Amino acid sequence: MKTAVVTGANRGIGLGLTKKLLESGYVVHSTFRSSLGGLSAIENDNLKTHKMDVRDENSIITLSESIEGNIDLLINNAGVADGRWQSISEIDFDHSLEVFHINSLGPILITQKLLHKLKYGSKILMMSSLMGSISDCRSGKSYAYRASKTALNMLSIAMKNELDAAGISIMIIHPGWVETDMGGPNAPLSVGESIDGIMDRIVEQNLGLSGRYVEYDGSHIEW
Ligand SMILES: NC(=O)c1ccc[n+]([C@@H]2O[C@H](COP(=O)([O-])OP(=O)(O)OC[C@H]3O[C@@H](n4cnc5c(N)ncnc54)[C@H](OP(=O)(O)O)[C@@H]3O)[C@@H](O)[C@H]2O)c1
Repeated sequence: MKTAVVTGANRGIGLGLTKKLLESGYVVHSTFRSSLGGLSAIENDNLKTHKMDVRDENSIITLSESIEGNIDLLINNAGVADGRWQSISEIDFDHSLEVFHINSLGPILITQKLLHKLKYGSKILMMSSLMGSISDCRSGKSYAYRASKTALNMLSIAMKNELDAAGISIMIIHPGWVETDMGGPNAPLSVGESIDGIMDRIVEQNLGLSGRYVEYDGSHIEW
């Protein structure tokens, strides 16, 4: 039986991925920050829940210690939006640091602490965004969110270069604009549609594809 870890799984895309992975026969270690949220309604012995904040190293170490055996799939999904600032004058720098901490460094800290459980053939999914693409940036706005995902992309590629030799692959995924608390009610994609695509990307992932930056449907994204 394969083992997956999904961060930020109490709602939104992380919750949807948890359900789909359970359906697919994985043992799923799903994390929540404060409340179990939608995870509380899932009745499945293969679901293991863990309280974890990506900024709290001790909570990540506790997570790592409570997972038996190896991890086949690590999904670094937890993330936050910024203040959706419309102009330079509105940028809140303390808030920006929080966004960088959670979106850029959080996934790297988790990967660092779980690395000894990843083995040849294991896959890491970094939940990035099209908003991290410099080529696609045609407006200001959302300064910290955009840059946090661009930084995540670079950190992921640097990590990919190091992990190639260990046979661990990384995919950098834009889930689409998805109807969640973050995506809002006008988003064109349902969680289910996004996740069906993401699951296909997970299945097809291999070492040769490591480091790709793609949408949920597999379309290539320019950096
Ligand atoms: N929805 C979209 O259109 C869209 C588009 C592009 C990329 N994404 C990316 O997809 C991922 C999931 O987004 P979503 O739409 O599902 O968002 P969401 O509904 O807002 O859910 C975000 C999840 O991340 C968790 N989280 C936030 N800060 C955390 C922290 N410090 N430690 C641990 N968990 C934390 C949240 O926990 P709490 O409930 O405790 O806050 C929640 O479970 C994010 O990385 C996001 O940037 C989303």
